[in-house]
Amino acid sequence: MPTFTGEQATHYDSRITRLVPGYELLHQLTNAQLLATLADNAHILVVGAGTGKEILALAALNPTWQFTAQDTSSDMLAIAKQAFEEHGIAKRVNVIEGELDKLSTKADAAVCLLVMHFLKDDGSKKQLLKNIKANLNKGANLFISDLMKPETDFEREAQITVCADLGLSDAGQAYTAQNLESEFYPLDRMRLSELLNECKYGIPKLYFKALGFSGYVVK
Ligand SMILES: C[S@@+](CC[C@H](N)C(=O)[O-])C[C@H]1O[C@@H](n2cnc3c(N)ncnc32)[C@H](O)[C@@H]1O
Repeated sequence: MPTFTGEQATHYDSRITRLVPGYELLHQLTNAQLLATLADNAHILVVGAGTGKEILALAALNPTWQFTAQDTSSDMLAIAKQAFEEHGIAKRVNVIEGELDKLSTKADAAVCLLVMHFLKDDGSKKQLLKNIKANLNKGANLFISDLMKPETDFEREAQITVCADLGLSDAGQAYTAQNLESEFYPLDRMRLSELLNECKYGIPKLYFKALGFSGYVVK
């Protein structure tokens, strides 16, 4: 997994849109569904909140939503915290650094975008999904997006082509092609459904697909 420290954190916001085809659309579609489903007093758990982009956008969508921003990288969260202050929303966000544990407030929805694919399927993914479930109110949706196992033998190559179109340098393309093989632990749809089922979630509904990246909503 990338370390998400130092330059990987400071350059994150400018790099990620070149690495994930449809990054902004994924967030837009996720946020629109949260807006469609949540009340004004909702509490949203953002797992792997990173530099805080999701929360900034969601806080602007509804001025009374409250958030928990959890992440294991203090460098990513330092950027997030500064952004929350700058946008005057710090009081609405409970920031948690470290692995997700039991929170004092249960959430009305959870968002976990581009995080679980970095965890091995050795019990680590399952633990994360269980921890999220334990912090959700009954009937709450989880929006989760990850790099999946390729469904064709040309999908990854096409993904790098799109990254080039999005402005990724030649060196970045070579590095990314290698990283997709070595730094991610992608699942196929069947295994994802199985894991979700083992963690007491229902049937995941696909709402986003851009080559290797899929987004599902599940409760
Ligand atoms: C690719 S970034 C995604 C950030 C943000 N969700 C987004 O969509 O831009 C992955 C984030 O997951 C965090 N992360 C990795 N393992 C984690 C874990 N077990 N629990 C929570 N966050 C984790 C990393 O520190 C990093 O900030």
